[in-house]
Amino acid sequence: MSTDPSSSARTTTGHDPDGHGPNDLDVVKVRADFPILSTEVHGRPLVFLDSAASSQKPAAVIEAMDRYYETTHANVHRAAYSLAEAATNAMEGARARVARFIGATSPDSVVFTKNATESLNLVARSWGDANLGPGDAVVLTELEHHANIVPWQQLAAERGTELRWIPLTDDGRLDLTDLDRLLDGAKLLALSAMSNVVGTITPVRMLTDAAHAAGALACIDACQYVPHVETDVHALGADFLAFSGHKMLGPTGIGVLWGRPELLEAMPPFLGGGGMILDVTKDGFTPAAVPHKFEAGTPPIAEIVGLGAAVDYLDALGMDRVRAHEVSLTAYALRSLTERFGDDLTVYGPAEPDGRGGVMSFAFRGIHPHDLSQVLDQHGVCVRPGHHCAKPLMRVLGVGATARASWYVYNDEADIDALGDALEDAGRFFDF
Ligand code: ALA
Repeated sequence: MSTDPSSSARTTTGHDPDGHGPNDLDVVKVRADFPILSTEVHGRPLVFLDSAASSQKPAAVIEAMDRYYETTHANVHRAAYSLAEAATNAMEGARARVARFIGATSPDSVVFTKNATESLNLVARSWGDANLGPGDAVVLTELEHHANIVPWQQLAAERGTELRWIPLTDDGRLDLTDLDRLLDGAKLLALSAMSNVVGTITPVRMLTDAAHAAGALACIDACQYVPHVETDVHALGADFLAFSGHKMLGPTGIGVLWGRPELLEAMPPFLGGGGMILDVTKDGFTPAAVPHKFEAGTPPIAEIVGLGAAVDYLDALGMDRVRAHEVSLTAYALRSLTERFGDDLTVYGPAEPDGRGGVMSFAFRGIHPHDLSQVLDQHGVCVRPGHHCAKPLMRVLGVGATARASWYVYNDEADIDALGDALEDAGRFFDF
């Protein structure tokens, strides 16, 4: 099988002739919105399969940021002139849209950060510092990204907090056999909603209920979840929820921490400086109200505007379509690549497409993932090799690294076929 990933070979995934089905994402139309997708790599059309690391950006996001700089820029929340008011309105308008996008009842519960990593560090350094001490326990899972491990390890080293781990089943799901004992007496469950490595979608609501029943709070790393699945922070039972703009078609440098308002109000500030105070004297300071209490310094205004545009873009596509498209593409990838390569291909994680996100970590014929990625690159195919910032999970899988392909709204079956063609070539290249 050989395929041409140019636009003529592309189709609307699962197209409903009436155009009203949940899985009628028009990928050809979507792709036309992403300027980078018409570029080439090594003379081959770009086949971008690394959106779990960072997604590409539609023209609407790029233009919103350009337009902001061309027409609206001034510092926010500081000046009385109309341009500054317009900039403040642009930023706060985006905050309101982000809040609505994740089902938050109040925009004030949306704190802008640099990325999900900073959001999780904020929870650890602010809520954790104030609430965790020797003998308290934080429960993690073996699926976690380093961003939801290291801040808790730093805290544990300083304060004597105990870390407990929910183990995994052989197919990369959470093994909940011992959940009651792990949660017993714990103060926090820190949990990924979707694994960035094996794609597992975790049973968040069941786990937040269990955490609450045990008297613990639930901090959700939703970095891989919010871009792909319709999210309602209240329905998930989250107390904190973190995600990044750049994985959901938005710019880099902007992330979100959503927190339950009463928790955010009770927490001490994370960083000190301008913008986060009500008053400062030589003797001390009074913090501003949330969310500004956690937003010291000039915020990344253009990036916030870009994130607002990304939310608008995803809203227009419909998150039900985004998810349905990914499940369909995941099913195609698992089926077609497994059929094509048999035992030469090992795919990690759950077998059922609807139990996982659009992420496929794999091993191919014993070829080191870095070597594999370099050969695939010669075909224009971008996949990430490495430990994916999840070394504890790599150790559970018994590997040092995997190759990982991940897809999003602009990918289709032609991209999966191009990956297959490139793998076939890599197999020939390393056949010694
Ligand atoms: N967390 C990002 C990834 O999974 C960088 O690749």
